[in-house]
Amino acid sequence: MERRIWFVVMSLMVLFVVSESRELKNNKQEDHNHIYNHTLAQILVEYASAVYVADLTELFTWTCSRCNDMTKGFEMVELIVDVQNCLQAFVGVAHDLNAIVISFRGTQGNSVQNWIEDLFWKQLDLNYPQMPDAMVHHGFYSAYHNTSLGPGILNAVQRTRDVFGDIQVMVTGHSMGGAMASFCALDLTLNHGIHNVQLITFGQPRIGNAIFASYFNKHVPHAIRVTNGHDIVPHLPPYYYYFPSKTYHHFAKEVWLNNIGFGRQIYTIEKICDDSGEDPTCSRSVSGNSVSDHLTYYGIMLKADTWGSCKIIMSKTMDEYQTDPAGNIILSRIPIFDQILKKRVQDDGGISSL
Ligand SMILES: *[C@@H]1O[C@H](CO)[C@@H](O)[C@H](O)[C@H]1NC(C)=O
Ligand SMILES: *[C@@H]1O[C@H](CO)[C@@H](O)[C@H](O)[C@H]1NC(C)=O
Repeated sequence: MERRIWFVVMSLMVLFVVSESRELKNNKQEDHNHIYNHTLAQILVEYASAVYVADLTELFTWTCSRCNDMTKGFEMVELIVDVQNCLQAFVGVAHDLNAIVISFRGTQGNSVQNWIEDLFWKQLDLNYPQMPDAMVHHGFYSAYHNTSLGPGILNAVQRTRDVFGDIQVMVTGHSMGGAMASFCALDLTLNHGIHNVQLITFGQPRIGNAIFASYFNKHVPHAIRVTNGHDIVPHLPPYYYYFPSKTYHHFAKEVWLNNIGFGRQIYTIEKICDDSGEDPTCSRSVSGNSVSDHLTYYGIMLKADTWGSCKIIMSKTMDEYQTDPAGNIILSRIPIFDQILKKRVQDDGGISSL
């Protein structure tokens, strides 16, 4: 009798363990899919590349040579050029993703080499507002918060959401643009009540300390930092293992693109890294010393055609053209209206009913 009871108890326990582990596995699978989506990263890297285009007319009308492929059909809402600080970003609607896309350009100064050298010396010199002990780099923070980009983007996002409602917001950028994209994603969730924000950056530098990173992970859980091979920029400003409280620290989650193989047999492995932000088996496992790995992600070029100038090409006769008192350029429109009309035509089965 006693044996039988034992047997029943044991069987129940085994059943319990088995079902529990199955559940755990499923959860993990879902999480994984939810967090990194290769196709989405490939689409967003094309947006991160397009924002480098200097011809504003082509970019605004989405007719540039980079405005193609997986970003076809993108509806630009606002293109902002901060002329004073040589920054550029846009906001629009990707109808196929059913999402607002925000993309930030990386540095376009005189030399990427100089910009990278400067990164070594960036200080943690600003307390992030309302986050005790969270320190960030003032320059990166200000490039988003204290230029014409921040207000321009918020305004465009608001106008788009007024029409489209609560659709996803996807924020992207490469290099310095990734740093600005990160501050933007955090600002949208923290200060503007937008909770479906997804961030994917490419080759971005570190932007804050470990305390900042842990706040960041909490507020922007759907964040991916893609790093590529030996790209030097994700290694900067430096991380000092022995000074955890004084050092820069990446937020999660890194996905490391690593080329392995010999000769013609090269495979790219996409390594999903741990939740620490500083996984020692990802890009930190190699000496980050490559500038060329910084400039190409997923085979897409992430720099301007003509390097080292803040030159702008555009026709000033465009209706959408405005400048602010400081001379910054904003190209703005309400494209969604067209889309709604088009949709209404489709839904009603013809123009006659309009
Ligand atoms: C990945 O993203 C693409 C584009 O948004 C989407 O079509 C696809 O369903 C996603 N895949 C998964 C597994 O979520
Ligand atoms: C914001 O920028 C202006 C000039 O563009 C500068 O004078 C001011 O100190 C900046 N403020 C902060 C908090 O960075």
